[in-house]
Amino acid sequence: MHVSFRLLLPFVLFAATLLSISFPDIAGSETLNCLECHNDIGKEQFVHSPFGAGECASCHQPQTGKRHPDDKGAVTPVEVGAKLCYMCHESLSGKKYVHAPVASGDCIACHNPHASSNAKLLKISGAPLCLTCHEDKFRHKFGHGPVEAGNCLVCHDPHQSDNRKLLKLGGAELCFSCHDRKGMTGKSVHAPVAKGDCVACHAPHGSNFRKLLRNNFPEPFYMSYDAENFSLCFGCHNRDIAADQRTDTNTNFRDGDRNLHYLHVNKPDRGRSCKTCHDPHAADQPKLIKKRIPGFGRWEIPINYEKNATGGTCTVGCHKPRSYDRSKAGDE
Ligand code: HEC
Ligand code: HEC
Ligand code: HEC
Ligand code: HEC
Ligand code: HEC
Ligand code: HEC
Ligand code: HEC
Ligand code: HEC
Ligand code: HEC
Ligand code: HEC
Repeated sequence: MHVSFRLLLPFVLFAATLLSISFPDIAGSETLNCLECHNDIGKEQFVHSPFGAGECASCHQPQTGKRHPDDKGAVTPVEVGAKLCYMCHESLSGKKYVHAPVASGDCIACHNPHASSNAKLLKISGAPLCLTCHEDKFRHKFGHGPVEAGNCLVCHDPHQSDNRKLLKLGGAELCFSCHDRKGMTGKSVHAPVAKGDCVACHAPHGSNFRKLLRNNFPEPFYMSYDAENFSLCFGCHNRDIAADQRTDTNTNFRDGDRNLHYLHVNKPDRGRSCKTCHDPHAADQPKLIKKRIPGFGRWEIPINYEKNATGGTCTVGCHKPRSYDRSKAGDE
């Protein structure tokens, strides 16, 4: 943000006091030079302009008939809370979402009004400032790059935003400011990805699961089947998709009532992971089916998938096409 034209007003008003750094003492005839006694404050490297200019009176008002420091309340703030700051700064609470301490006018929770050894007059710099109020949520086995770097402000605005959670960009756009959007488009795009809801599956700060996932989803392509391995997917999809050898309801990937999810996935030794066939984000074939699936070693087998009203056909590598049909028994 920029400092508004209203900045000029107090400067003009206090131009006179600015030069002498003193006020007439209402009770007596002598003047009250603030820095004569308060020469120990504001010595830090980054100095707030009005403080540096000796404009104490733009924020502190000596009261008529009272003697400072003997009388209590002889010097009072010109305005309370954020109103004091908004005399010179543009309001920071016009947007849809306002950070709680900003909304309550507690600017000095984060800023020093006089001077600071941190840029932007911050009391503490970087993530430790945020963590004074937001502790404990940032301990994970796997931390996200920018969070690990303590860089909260690449994603959040400290004051306000039109995006929820004070985010600088909404939805997937935030993620795409650093991550390639390639791989997120295609003939079929997973519904949460299409909605920009990356955080449905990924925890933005860090996670105890790999790849910042919110739940289990294994690294290998083959393993002995356990529904627990795919808890991420089963958080939204029918957990029984691959549970039974025969079904009429649990999945559309079946030949008659023969469950082809079960056939491929539910094996005691080399059961397939979902990602041998499906891309979790998007793919160039229907139903998030990948163009290539892992073969032996580094070799990837091309897979051609065609879908029809009651089933589909897969042509895998150089083998003969295989079809399935939910309405009758297939070619197996
Ligand atoms: C004669 C010395 C003296 C002068 C001049 C003086 N102060 Fe103070 N001020 C004090 C002392 C002593 C205290 C109490 C310090 C403490 O409690 O730590 C104090 C406390 C304060 C406080 C905090 C407590 C309160 O009363 O609100 C503020 C704010 C303050 N002074 C502002 C000012 C400003 C602004 C000026 C110039 C207009 C000024 N002072 C001039 C001696 C002085
Ligand atoms: C931009 C507004 C602003 C200006 C300009 C300013 N102050 Fe303050 N000052 C404050 C605020 C706000 C507080 C209350 C801080 C707190 O409660 O932590 C404060 C607190 C103080 C205190 C109390 C002790 C402390 O450090 O918290 C003293 C003394 C003081 N100011 C003196 C001065 C003097 C002397 C000047 C001029 C050289 C000055 N101030 C200029 C806003 C200002
Ligand atoms: C009397 C006018 C005035 C008041 C009141 C005022 N400021 Fe400022 N502030 C300024 C000016 C002038 C600048 C310098 C603007 C610039 O460099 O663009 C500034 C700059 C800042 C900066 C940026 C410092 C930097 O290093 O970039 C912060 C943060 C800030 N003010 C916070 C506050 C807070 C918090 C309050 C209320 C406690 C406040 N200001 C009250 C005039 C004021
Ligand atoms: C939760 C902590 C926090 C609170 C509360 C807060 N600020 Fe800030 N403020 C920051 C941080 C962090 C920055 C530095 C932003 C950056 O570097 O991009 C900043 C920067 C600023 C700046 C410099 C201009 C800019 O945007 O870079 C001004 C002026 C400012 N704040 C004023 C205020 C005022 C006025 C309030 C109260 C209404 C306030 N702040 C409350 C954390 C806070
Ligand atoms: C003075 C305490 C304080 C500091 C410092 C602070 N916050 Fe907050 N913050 C709060 C409070 C209070 C809430 C509202 C309650 C909650 O959601 O925990 C909040 C909420 C949030 C939210 C959620 C907003 C929403 O709409 O749900 C975000 C994001 C956030 N803070 C980020 C930050 C960042 C980034 C920093 C450091 C620049 C920071 N906070 C520093 C007190 C603080
Ligand atoms: C890579 C971007 C990114 C970074 C960096 C980041 N956050 Fe967040 N933060 C988010 C997103 C996205 C959300 C919303 C999560 C959601 O919707 O579930 C969020 C939510 C929050 C919330 C609201 C409570 C919650 O957990 O949902 C707080 C508080 C918060 N962040 C603080 C911080 C702090 C403090 C830092 C720095 C240590 C930080 N964030 C760094 C992206 C980020
Ligand atoms: C400011 C840049 C930035 C933003 C914004 C960002 N990331 Fe990242 N992200 C990184 C960095 C840096 C890494 C670590 C790079 C690496 O290890 O390859 C990373 C890694 C990841 C990883 C892989 C973790 C792993 O273990 O390999 C995922 C998943 C991820 N980010 C998701 C997201 C999501 C979802 C969002 C949006 C909420 C997002 N990122 C926003 C910078 C960013
Ligand atoms: C339906 C859940 C889901 C959604 C929604 C989702 N992801 Fe992922 N993402 C995954 C899974 C699962 C993996 C790990 C794939 C694997 O095991 O190789 C992953 C991996 C990643 C990686 C790491 C890639 C690598 O090669 O290491 C990044 C970066 C990433 N996702 C970013 C995003 C972004 C950005 C969005 C939003 C546009 C998003 N994800 C939405 C499930 C999801
Ligand atoms: C946050 C919820 C969510 C998670 C987690 C999730 N999905 Fe989905 N998925 C959906 C929604 C919503 C749809 C579209 C509606 C439907 O068909 O049920 C969908 C559809 C699908 C489809 C059909 C795509 C199409 O084009 O019709 C496949 C395949 C799929 N998901 C696989 C997965 C896999 C594999 C995982 C785990 C890596 C997973 N999903 C995790 C929400 C989710
Ligand atoms: C051998 C390849 C293959 C594997 C492995 C596989 N799927 Fe599928 N999946 C398919 C095909 C093909 C369809 C499309 C069925 C149709 O609509 O005709 C499908 C459809 C789906 C659907 C849409 C709803 C339904 O059941 O028809 C979801 C959700 C889904 N799969 C999730 C998963 C999950 C979760 C895993 C891992 C536990 C997984 N798939 C493993 C090939 C596979």
